[in-house]
Amino acid sequence: MSGQHGSMIKNPKQLIIMVFAAFFIPLIVILLLLIFADSKTKQSSVPNTESTLKIIRPVGKLNFVDSSAPKIAKTGDAVYQSVCASCHSSGAAGAPKFEDVAAWSGRISKGYDYLVTSAIKGKNAMPARGGASPDDVSDYEIARAVVYMANASGGKLKEPKDPDQAKDARAEKK
Ligand code: HEC
Repeated sequence: MSGQHGSMIKNPKQLIIMVFAAFFIPLIVILLLLIFADSKTKQSSVPNTESTLKIIRPVGKLNFVDSSAPKIAKTGDAVYQSVCASCHSSGAAGAPKFEDVAAWSGRISKGYDYLVTSAIKGKNAMPARGGASPDDVSDYEIARAVVYMANASGGKLKEPKDPDQAKDARAEKK
């Protein structure tokens, strides 16, 4: 033991303490630094949350649609507002105006099938499906829009049957 003058480690117990200290003291220092840094960033980000969000906002947003999800048919009102109103609310291009009973009565008297066929296939200045793609607006949805429009303009057409529900009902009977 006489040759170890000046060394702090004089016995096995001290060696163990030194090893522990060498391991844990830096660890505690790092932990404290982390906590400190964390509180700093929290403080500075609070007033800037909005601008930070703006900066890190994704450039494009992808809208993934689950193609296996059951499709919920749009209501006649919704289809009318998004596709048909551009002409039928103002009467543009000679379109029979929404709620204009006189403009619709002659057409409505020709019946539901006739009106739906005109809407799906188009007629004169009226584009097929009002210009919508069949992927966006199904025949059933067009028919609902026709019924919605005609009934707002003096008609008493029945709401068309949902082809999907009709299919389900047939499947249940089997
Ligand atoms: C680009 C303008 C335009 C859009 C969009 C449009 N229509 Fe029309 N629609 C017309 C015009 C013009 C007529 C009159 C056609 C005629 O009788 O010559 C008409 C007539 C109709 C008629 C009567 C057809 C007949 O045979 O008397 C129905 C029903 C109709 N539209 C339904 C719809 C529905 C449903 C939509 C939306 C899905 C729609 N329209 C969107 C212009 C439009």
